[in-house]
Amino acid sequence: MKSIMEYQGKLLNHVETLYRPGERELAIELALALGCAITDTGFKGDGVDTFLAVHPNPEDQNSQNNVFYMSQIRPEQLAVEARLKRLSEEESDFARLLENYRVAARTKPFGVPHFALRYLSGRDVEDAAERINTSLKPKLKDRLHLRIFRPEDADAAGENVIQGFLYQDVIVSGSFLMGQLIEMQTRP
Ligand SMILES: [Fe+2]
Repeated sequence: MKSIMEYQGKLLNHVETLYRPGERELAIELALALGCAITDTGFKGDGVDTFLAVHPNPEDQNSQNNVFYMSQIRPEQLAVEARLKRLSEEESDFARLLENYRVAARTKPFGVPHFALRYLSGRDVEDAAERINTSLKPKLKDRLHLRIFRPEDADAAGENVIQGFLYQDVIVSGSFLMGQLIEMQTRP
């Protein structure tokens, strides 16, 4: 297999994700369950922890390409998240809207913001799903939902595609309150 550095064209470079204070180990566990390898970049920026680089292809641990990063949420966003959480606890209207969104993210993921990892086979997707369901689901309970779309499903997106949609709020590239979908996709 060619390494990503051998590809000379433009590409989608990286995704930046965050975890909550105290959940670095949980974030690592999630990335490992997805079948990725993790390296520590040693880079801290303005954060309290170093950035972790997550490699979808464990055999090609390039820290700048084909990678997503995980680091701890910054105080500015934490303040916004805390305010929104309070609002959701105080205002039933807002709580209902938020719950509607979460239900849509769990059940109709096409059209909900996400990023996707490509797997080499449907078996690889099923294996990752099993790791997630075994190691993380009991721990995270309602914070994690995993749905697999198989070609024979009535609402599948394509005839030959197996897609796993993992909805969780351990690592997000947006709002913790709205959670993050991660797609696991392959062509069997
Ligand atoms: Fe997608």
